[in-house]
Amino acid sequence: MHAAVITAPDAPPVYRDHPDPAAGHPGEQVVEVLAAGLHHLTRGRATGGHYSSGGVYPLVPGMDGVVRDQEGNLRYVVMDDTPLGTFAERTLIDPRRSVILPDGIDPVRIAAAMNPAMSSWVALRRRIAFQAGQRVLVLGATGNAGRMAVQIAKLFGAAQVIAAGRDTTRLKELTALGADETITFDEAEQAADVDVVIDYVWGEPAAGAMIPMLTARADRGRPLTWIQIGSVAGPAAPVPSMALRAARLRIVGSGIGSVPARDFIAELPELAAAVAAGAIDVRARAVPLAEVARAWTAETGDRVVLVP
Ligand SMILES: NC(=O)c1ccc[n+]([C@@H]2O[C@H](COP(=O)([O-])OP(=O)(O)OC[C@H]3O[C@@H](n4cnc5c(N)ncnc54)[C@H](OP(=O)(O)O)[C@@H]3O)[C@@H](O)[C@H]2O)c1
Repeated sequence: MHAAVITAPDAPPVYRDHPDPAAGHPGEQVVEVLAAGLHHLTRGRATGGHYSSGGVYPLVPGMDGVVRDQEGNLRYVVMDDTPLGTFAERTLIDPRRSVILPDGIDPVRIAAAMNPAMSSWVALRRRIAFQAGQRVLVLGATGNAGRMAVQIAKLFGAAQVIAAGRDTTRLKELTALGADETITFDEAEQAADVDVVIDYVWGEPAAGAMIPMLTARADRGRPLTWIQIGSVAGPAAPVPSMALRAARLRIVGSGIGSVPARDFIAELPELAAAVAAGAIDVRARAVPLAEVARAWTAETGDRVVLVP
């Protein structure tokens, strides 16, 4: 079969022949891959940049995707850390890490949406006890995950969603997706009274937003939960000590590890149904797997989905 193969952390993927997978353990199944998203986690795991990567080479990247199983069912699958991912014509899955999808579903749309959408869905459902009527700030709202967080917070009954980013043109588009207000990072005090921050940015912009927000808060004793989910602006943020003392701020992270795999998997059916029903707007770009080397470094606002 053909697959994308990475031979070292800094080597680009190469589309080439690869041995066919064979099921070895009970329950494992060889499946046909229909679509696999090129997410930050996909790159991070393959290049050793993500804390969950195994660092074994050569490897076939791909941490999730839509596959056809041996009974003909379409499934969305989340791979464990494995040297044989979903950037291949066929791969090996543990069906317990998958959900059967309705017939007629668009595999590219599901493959594009599930990883970025899962970030806020799981954070609000499994990492904190989010309640309808709460107010939410999405920091870094113009990316795929941020756009979906705006929509998912609304789906979960947020009373107000404020979308923050640096690109004012892309920010304006979020109003049509449910954002009640759009602000730039240096206008963070306008979000002073939210209950939850969904943060994809971290680094300087997140740390810089904290003090203006906290000091402008009408009631500093009211809890504010800051969920750290992504770090597009930097892996470390210089959080001022005052931020933790001057207001009732709680900072938590949400991702692989802080949310158990079983909790992610438990949320797959409902999220897949929401995406399938069109409740979440998805930006996807299908690219043939043979073009993986070019797609690997391409800058695009749409989520690239590789199709074998
Ligand atoms: N923990 C989890 O469960 C989980 C799950 C999925 C994703 N994530 C993480 O969430 C983050 C976003 O993922 P994504 O899929 O939305 O990525 P994406 O679609 O590539 O979007 C990233 C966005 O980040 C913004 N950005 C990039 N550099 C920035 C900087 N220096 N300062 C401010 N904004 C910057 C860009 O906004 P503009 O160009 O529009 O300004 C871009 O739209 C990534 O770190 C990813 O690893 C975490």
